[in-house]
Amino acid sequence: TQRSITVLPGDGIGPSIVAAAIKILDAAGCQFQYDYADAGLSALEKYGELLPQTTLDLIAKNKVALKGPLTTPIGGGFTSINVTLRKHFNLYANLRPVVSFAGTQSRFENIDIITIRENTEGMYSGAGQTRALDNSSAEAMSIITHEGAERISEFAYQLAVKEGRKKVTIVHKANILKSTSGLFLEVAREVALRYPQIETNEMIVDAVCMNLVMYPERFDIIVTTNLFGDIISDLCAGLIGGLGMAPGANIGKEVAIFEAVHGSAPDIAGQNIANPCSVILAAIQLLEHLNMQDQAELIRAAIKKTLAQGKTITQDLSGSASTTEFTDAIIANL
Ligand code: NAI
Ligand code: MG
Repeated sequence: TQRSITVLPGDGIGPSIVAAAIKILDAAGCQFQYDYADAGLSALEKYGELLPQTTLDLIAKNKVALKGPLTTPIGGGFTSINVTLRKHFNLYANLRPVVSFAGTQSRFENIDIITIRENTEGMYSGAGQTRALDNSSAEAMSIITHEGAERISEFAYQLAVKEGRKKVTIVHKANILKSTSGLFLEVAREVALRYPQIETNEMIVDAVCMNLVMYPERFDIIVTTNLFGDIISDLCAGLIGGLGMAPGANIGKEVAIFEAVHGSAPDIAGQNIANPCSVILAAIQLLEHLNMQDQAELIRAAIKKTLAQGKTITQDLSGSASTTEFTDAIIANL
């Protein structure tokens, strides 16, 4: 029987880069059946809501989804759809790998870093958001639980073991955020003790930023809280050619949603110039999640070859090809 996956084309550049990824999955012989669903601005226009129940049902049905970026309208009291999705399906682990490809014109050559970001708590818990009526002050609550810190740390160390990696860096700000970041650090340390074969180090988030830019080779797996992970993973994308090269998996016990790290890029939407690699690499993560390693490797090799040839690549990578030309070049290299 054919495996079904749920596809959310999303907003802005989403539909074009998701279409590119689907074309490549098909060309690689994956034989998926796709259940398309709306979310974000496109859903708001069609159904009057950002995240329709039918979309949630389709994600729950197939357990895996490939998702384009979603635009959350600013103002109007909308909470982020991404945050809502992650909380709804309890997608507690956000796995964001960055790997260098030759030909991307980036500053470094041998980057291979995975940021494991806690995806449901911390500053993005959504709790206690208030604003004084006269705008004189605003508050938001950061929440760290022992359970949340433990399961994300376990996730990071288990990944290290599974992928034969050497080191986990626990990233925190426990010197200032003593209660929240302090608890996270303590729990992560406890988990680290269960994995003596993996080297552990601890680093304050500011120092991480400096070190990532100067000595990225010192990092292997990073595990951290929600806000720090969000920021650090964009920094990491900058080490390997930008947001167009950065995928992310949102993983829970039941459901997993694969997407780009970036947003809907309204500044370049509708021009057929976005780099589709972010979503194609997310599709590779999806294949690995489904234990379809052969197809995953096939597609990765085709991306690698296309980038190395350097002829048909998009503008963000200093090329001049369109999204569709780049996609077709990857397919030709499959
Ligand atoms: P963005 O990530 O959409 O864009 C930042 C910059 O990177 C822009 O200059 C854009 O053109 C460029 N860029 C992003 N992806 C690219 C690609 N594949 N190829 C070439 N260039 C690319 O961030 P921005 O503009 O702050 O956010 C736009 C919207 O996206 C907002 O509504 C935001 O809420 C939403 N968003 C959604 C996310 C998601 O669905 N996971 C994540 C982040 C933002
Ligand atoms: Mg982000």
